[in-house]
Amino acid sequence: MKTRMILIGLVILIAAFPVIGMAEPAFDPDTDLLLQDMAARSHSTHDNSLGYPGNEDIRLDGFYDWYLKNEVGHAMMNNAGDPNDVTEDHGAMRIENEVIRFFAPLYGFDPDGVWGLVTMSGTDGNNHGIYFGRHCLVAETGIEPILYVSTEAHYSNMRLAELQQLETRLVETDEMGRMKPEAFRAALDPDRPALIVYSMGTTFKGAIDDQQAINAIIDEVSPPAVYRHVDAALFGGYLPFSQYRGLVDQSTCNFDSIAVSGHKFFGMDEPCGLFFTSREVLEKQNPYQITYLNGSMPMINCSRSALNPLKFYWLIKTVGMEGFSEMANGMLENAAYLKKQLDEIGWPAWVSSEMSNTVFFAKPSDEIMEKYTLAPDYDDRFGGDLAHVVVMASVTRVQIDSLIEDLEAELAEAELPAA
Ligand SMILES: Cc1ncc(COP(=O)(O)O)c(C=O)c1O
Repeated sequence: MKTRMILIGLVILIAAFPVIGMAEPAFDPDTDLLLQDMAARSHSTHDNSLGYPGNEDIRLDGFYDWYLKNEVGHAMMNNAGDPNDVTEDHGAMRIENEVIRFFAPLYGFDPDGVWGLVTMSGTDGNNHGIYFGRHCLVAETGIEPILYVSTEAHYSNMRLAELQQLETRLVETDEMGRMKPEAFRAALDPDRPALIVYSMGTTFKGAIDDQQAINAIIDEVSPPAVYRHVDAALFGGYLPFSQYRGLVDQSTCNFDSIAVSGHKFFGMDEPCGLFFTSREVLEKQNPYQITYLNGSMPMINCSRSALNPLKFYWLIKTVGMEGFSEMANGMLENAAYLKKQLDEIGWPAWVSSEMSNTVFFAKPSDEIMEKYTLAPDYDDRFGGDLAHVVVMASVTRVQIDSLIEDLEAELAEAELPAA
């Protein structure tokens, strides 16, 4: 009897072991220190972040409510496939298609002649532009192109050119950060196809390369073929909703592709972006017909987020044309206001053009740099150390006034005779 009891006990113990061994640790998100810290920071960073191009005014609470209410958290959110030719809906492919059709005309593309993607970032969009550009030019001429990009362009373009093993010529800029046309002329090889990356808002000075001036040189020098990609990471978000929309209009500017970040102007809460090109460009790519995916995969990445198209769709429906236009115009007005206030207190400051929301100025003390999360740079042509404010939709006049007050106090202190 005793042996039987021991045996039964052992069986129970062995049967229970996997359960005991695999028991979930008790997890309470409300007491998890890392999560608590993250939640607290997500509220406090909104206060004084002026130096980086993220719109902190994120309006996706309603989206997350919808997501939870409909228990979409159970679904695999992967848009692997071409969202332009949706035969079978999975992830949020049809919604991505709608997003492409909404934005394409804002960049001058005909919705039926466009090929677009919701990308993972501005860098991902530039990767597609450079990759598609090279393939196009080689298909047209059989000759490897040279990539031309300004020295003040975002570093992602140089890195991507390196990754794609493209011969690259960095073109000097004028002091406001625009590619110098005469330097471009000197760099342009008449015998090799030209892959040009135009900056539509350089990262630090917000400079816009002069497409017309560069195009005139291309017409004169006439290289065997040309592909024009526009890196419009930040400016490509707001320009379509401003009076300067013509600058990002493919139908008049004649560029071949454009990349825009989603998390800069639009108020997306995680990295993503938009990429547009034409069907003619697409036809010159390797279509990669993939049997197991039952379709063509011309894009670089296989898996892509389905959440980002969903959130973009949400913003289209909730913020819409009117909201985006208000944001765009408000930003440009506030950038002009900031520049005016800096001029009034006599703090050396510059804006590369009236299309720019980026105001750069002589670098203040480290305390002010830190307080407003300002970004630094250096340029001898402006006397050395610089800082900038990127006036996003979330930047308020109260914040601008507070910065001006601090700068004014710093000026007054500098004028005091040494004790
Ligand atoms: C001009 C420009 N291009 C590209 C990028 C990279 O964009 P993302 O951070 O979306 O990859 C940036 C980022 O600030 C940028 O300013």
